[in-house]
Amino acid sequence: MTDNNRWDERYKSGSVPWDAGQPDFNLIETVKNFPVPKCNALDLGCGTGDNSIWLAQNGFKVISTDLSELAIERARKKAASAGAECDFIYGDFMFEEVRGAPFGFVFDRGCFHSYKTNHERKKFARNVASHLGDKGLWLTMMGNADEDRPGEGPPQVTAEELVSAVEPCFEILSLESSHFGSNQKNPPRAWCCLMRKRID
Ligand SMILES: C[S@@+](CC[C@H](N)C(=O)[O-])C[C@H]1O[C@@H](n2cnc3c(N)ncnc32)[C@H](O)[C@@H]1O
Repeated sequence: MTDNNRWDERYKSGSVPWDAGQPDFNLIETVKNFPVPKCNALDLGCGTGDNSIWLAQNGFKVISTDLSELAIERARKKAASAGAECDFIYGDFMFEEVRGAPFGFVFDRGCFHSYKTNHERKKFARNVASHLGDKGLWLTMMGNADEDRPGEGPPQVTAEELVSAVEPCFEILSLESSHFGSNQKNPPRAWCCLMRKRID
């Protein structure tokens, strides 16, 4: 099964524990407290769009991409009923350039962490860097391997794996052990990492 079919199947079957139906509090707090200046923003692997919609409603000009056609279709509907202006594009970020670059801010929640090898994660980080303008910011959220979680949970990444993948292209501004914003009683632990693109 190709990757887009695999993700489409998840959305079709409703097996989408990450899809909280609301923006993640970690995004909101980081944007407000850092603060992240209003700019062109890219939501990578946007899913059904709650984080993109929040960014658009809070002064960002948003482009969002996902390789599930079904997720993009749902995101467009949600944005239309929220009256939010976001441009949702179907595509594979690992292989296609997203129009609208350079961006000032890239956000991903659970997209980077779906890549299992250091080679793929390094490629992902390089792609993020190539979509950012000078000193552009990337906030990524991923499952935290320090949690010994019974049953199914998100893919997990160690701090060492994260740092090794992003360090060549990014200066880490903060690395926080948090949890995913979630409707679950015991939300999975997450790394939230805010980075600035290095100057070449
Ligand atoms: C765990 S889900 C998270 C969705 C959304 N960010 C959220 O928080 O609800 C990961 C998403 O990344 C998308 N994705 C994975 N690899 C991708 C790629 N190479 N390009 C674009 N989207 C991708 C999947 O289709 C899926 O919707």
